Amino acid sequence: MLPGLLLLYTLLWTHTATARPASQTVFAADASFSPLDDSHHSPSFSPLLPPAIPLAVKSPYLNALLPTGGDGGSKGYLAGSWARHWPVHYPGSPRDYRLSWAGLIRIDGTTYEFLGAPLSDSKSSLGPARVARQTAFEYTATKSVFSFEAGNVTFKATFLSPVTPNDLVRQSLPFSYLSIDVDPDAAQNHFISVYTDISGEWASGDPNANLTWTYTSGSGIGVHAVSRREQLVFSEFAEQAEWGEAVLATELRRETVAGSGEVNDLRGTFIKHGRLDGTHDAAYRKMDDRQPVFGFSVQITPSRPSAVFTIGHVRQPYVNFVTPEGQVPLAGLWTTRFSRPLDAISYFQYSYPRTSREAARFDEQVRRDAQRVSGDNYAALVELSTRQAFATFELTTGVTEDWREDKEGVMAHLKEISSNGDMSTIDVIFPLHPILLYTNPTLLALLLEPILVYTHSGLYPNRWPVHDLGTYPNATGYNDGNDEPMPVEEAGNMLWCVRLMALVYFQLTADKPWVEKHYEVFKSWTTFLTDDGLVPAEQLSTDDFAGTLSNQTNLAVKAIVGIGAMSELAKGVGRWTDGIHYRAVAEAYVREWTALAMTETGGARHAKLAYQDDGSWGTLYNLFGDRLLNLKLFDRQLYADQSSWYAGKAQKYGVPLDSRHVWTKTDWEVFAAASATDKKGRELFINLLVDYLKAGKVDAAFPDLYETTTANFPGRDGLDWPIYFISRPVVGGHFALLALEKANGANGVEENPFGG
Ligand SMILES: *[C@@H]1O[C@H](CO)[C@@H](O)[C@H](O)[C@H]1NC(C)=O
Ligand SMILES: *[C@@H]1O[C@H](CO)[C@@H](O)[C@H](O)[C@H]1NC(C)=O
Ligand SMILES: *[C@@H]1O[C@H](CO)[C@@H](O)[C@H](O)[C@H]1NC(C)=O
Ligand SMILES: *[C@@H]1O[C@H](CO)[C@@H](O)[C@H](O)[C@H]1NC(C)=O
Repeated sequence: MLPGLLLLYTLLWTHTATARPASQTVFAADASFSPLDDSHHSPSFSPLLPPAIPLAVKSPYLNALLPTGGDGGSKGYLAGSWARHWPVHYPGSPRDYRLSWAGLIRIDGTTYEFLGAPLSDSKSSLGPARVARQTAFEYTATKSVFSFEAGNVTFKATFLSPVTPNDLVRQSLPFSYLSIDVDPDAAQNHFISVYTDISGEWASGDPNANLTWTYTSGSGIGVHAVSRREQLVFSEFAEQAEWGEAVLATELRRETVAGSGEVNDLRGTFIKHGRLDGTHDAAYRKMDDRQPVFGFSVQITPSRPSAVFTIGHVRQPYVNFVTPEGQVPLAGLWTTRFSRPLDAISYFQYSYPRTSREAARFDEQVRRDAQRVSGDNYAALVELSTRQAFATFELTTGVTEDWREDKEGVMAHLKEISSNGDMSTIDVIFPLHPILLYTNPTLLALLLEPILVYTHSGLYPNRWPVHDLGTYPNATGYNDGNDEPMPVEEAGNMLWCVRLMALVYFQLTADKPWVEKHYEVFKSWTTFLTDDGLVPAEQLSTDDFAGTLSNQTNLAVKAIVGIGAMSELAKGVGRWTDGIHYRAVAEAYVREWTALAMTETGGARHAKLAYQDDGSWGTLYNLFGDRLLNLKLFDRQLYADQSSWYAGKAQKYGVPLDSRHVWTKTDWEVFAAASATDKKGRELFINLLVDYLKAGKVDAAFPDLYETTTANFPGRDGLDWPIYFISRPVVGGHFALLALEKANGANGVEENPFGG
């Protein structure tokens, strides 16, 4: 390189994210790269820097994040690292779950990287890498917004994954947006164009997959669709869907050019000319054979200083549902309104202005409500949980009474992401439910529907509810009754949720037939809890990673809450005898439970973990049900005693789940917070959870199981053993405080639930 050019490069070099480990950022040997001192202009992260930043998070198979934490993370810089499918450092993916998604911006002839590592990746031959300087990052419930400066131009990259709980068809669209917005004044005074592309990694987790792709234009938009040639319907590889297609689309304005080609060729064309030349690669091949990428270049003009892209993953069919007549494939709910994917993509692309406005309102509401009930820390927690929770379930068509696909019907199916991929796991729908109660309780009914339909089919033989329906996306059921046994847990969970539904939803719509229809099933589960709930035999609770145990006090609370819930449910449909009977059982059980479960240690009264273990203690998070359903079964002193006990047991980053380990679950911490009757008791949990997030040790989508002493995954510091619970539905449980406020409204409870 000529010395003059070298000098120019040095001058033009605005910034690079020096905090990234050298191994991730390999520059061409002749590049004038000299790491600049970051300290003078390190970006702000608001409300905090999450362990992984959601980019396109809309379904179990569209779950792209930017890991920030741990030793290998991006530290929050969008440029320089690739997005990844949720299980960041999870064994099983040959390419570490990378999802190549590149973003370049060309300003007055100079090209800067702002998304992914198209220039700074060691495999790139396009160096030297100029990186747009990231000045700020902010997230809301639906958006991740990065602000940049490059070549005297400021611009923003906004990743919006819409959450539309009250519009089910739109909620079911498996797409997300990337919007690049350039400062309009700068657009006036500079020549600017932007470029983005995706690789075939979005279409398959298998690097050996043969790819095929198409480019279609119509209705004013251009759509790249890439899929694996050998479609494996209902199969996964490294947690990605091996059927369907990945799509990247944008509006076709003047000076928008689509193209596909070998990675360095396509990006090189943009770097050289500021636009693609419209050629498409037709040599279908393996994902990593001369890696094909699929992109668009868009010219930024003063009248249109932004470019909006749609990214997604479309499959047909969605899931495979068990019936007495065999497996029935069900379609994504959006297919009932859009006959072709192109129509759905076009609708999504064109509704950006409306969706963006609605998202701003939704975000504002979540933030304001959360701040009102428990301040800024609580808002940061629930905002980070929103997209993750909503991306763990999918809305589909339903099943008719004679076991066929019902295009008028709706069901929701949950994937128990990362902990094993189970489908419709009851004790995972359960911790998710507070966010649904807060946003739209109908969604809870729709998630319970597959379980109730399966129960009604008569295929499941046990006296208690099934644990799950199969491995996503195959709801095959357990007709032999050999599912993971959690009898008391699931019976209690179902009755708790069903009572909530009756309370906040069906009572409003006077839909008593729903309760009537399932009444005998609910009653049989209650009978089971009456027999087996007070003194639970050795079994698993939802915290199955801790193993089986007899006489779990918290599990008995779940059973008592379930029986109490059934009493209210019975009264709600005029079955007074049942109502009075179950209430009497629940009250008698509370008296016995109190005698068995409570103990005193050093003058402090608290619940044991198990009746027989005097030296033990546990987080009694199921007490939340007593408050949420306003059952008033347990006396107030118990709540106060537990709060003081937790305060004495708190570690640096949280209150351990129980006396066996120092780990805890974030969802149960917030359930316990929502059971506290004063501000101090509540904030103990919330503030420590935020300290855990801020510690930056974990590097994946909001992990819900962590060590309270280290803020790391269990096992990373030689403690316990490695378990990675990431991107799971249970973060919806962080909405427990907001759910309580809503349930209190429905219950007519006027007292401030948090004692001021
Ligand atoms: C930015 O603006 C300053 C002042 O006008 C100018 O000296 C500099 O060359 C510009 N830098 C770039 C990269 O355009
Ligand atoms: C890719 O195609 C080749 C040739 O048709 C075939 O042998 C191979 O099995 C395919 N690979 C996969 C993963 O399907
Ligand atoms: C779902 O079932 C099909 C067979 O019907 C099988 O090929 C596929 O691997 C299963 N998917 C998962 C994720 O287990
Ligand atoms: C469970 O508790 C009951 C009631 O106190 C007791 O009879 C039983 O022995 C306990 N079970 C175990 C395994 O300790």
